Amino acid sequence: MQRYTYVKLASNNTNDNILIINTKHYEKSTGVRAVSFFANLPESNAFKGWQIHYAAGPYDLHLAKQFPEKSFYAQHVDPNGYGAYTGKISMEMLIETGIHGSLINHSEFRVGFEVIDKSIHKARDLNFDLVVCAENLEEVSRFAQSGARLVAYEPPELIGGNISVSTAKPGIIEKAAGICEKNGARLIVGAGIKTYVDISTSLKLGACGGLVASGVVLASNPSIAITSLINKELT
Ligand code: G3P
Repeated sequence: MQRYTYVKLASNNTNDNILIINTKHYEKSTGVRAVSFFANLPESNAFKGWQIHYAAGPYDLHLAKQFPEKSFYAQHVDPNGYGAYTGKISMEMLIETGIHGSLINHSEFRVGFEVIDKSIHKARDLNFDLVVCAENLEEVSRFAQSGARLVAYEPPELIGGNISVSTAKPGIIEKAAGICEKNGARLIVGAGIKTYVDISTSLKLGACGGLVASGVVLASNPSIAITSLINKELT
């Protein structure tokens, strides 16, 4: 299937770091407020050495067309193709609408191992950027060994809080990064990330980026919040 994207990003084979902003279903980033929310965010190529992707809710994915310089990911995807499936989101449909990636198995939207495995294989066939979320080291290992190219480690108890994964779980990040590397996957980490130090510590521990929600979406200026995650000068 032909891969069409609005924004031209370096592929996952590069050494770019990755920042994924998950807009979740927050009132200020969803539905009627989504246009003004996304309008004020940095473009996906705004920072050298970084790719920024915006994981939007299903209703807001059409905004990819309106903001061609911003890379949109879905927050969830299903492994089925087109057909008689109610409420599903297929990779085929996303790719054809210019959305080339998605989270799957987020702690707030868990799916079973069978679905994850199917999705990993399909994503590889379609060259789709599937970000498989893992709650612990065992899951990181399982998904990396199943062929996931991008694994996101997020300890659920830290999500939405003020203690970041890099402060609370440095040893796990280090081990997870090693497991991913061994299996040809890249690791990003999330939960409680709010500052440049949270991100830079994660990178030092072997991750290639972060998955962030409240630290950006709920900030008084989400654009500055993103910039200050990447730029030391702003901290
Ligand atoms: O998907 C990102 C997420 O679950 C982390 O949330 O609010 O801790 O950045 P937050």
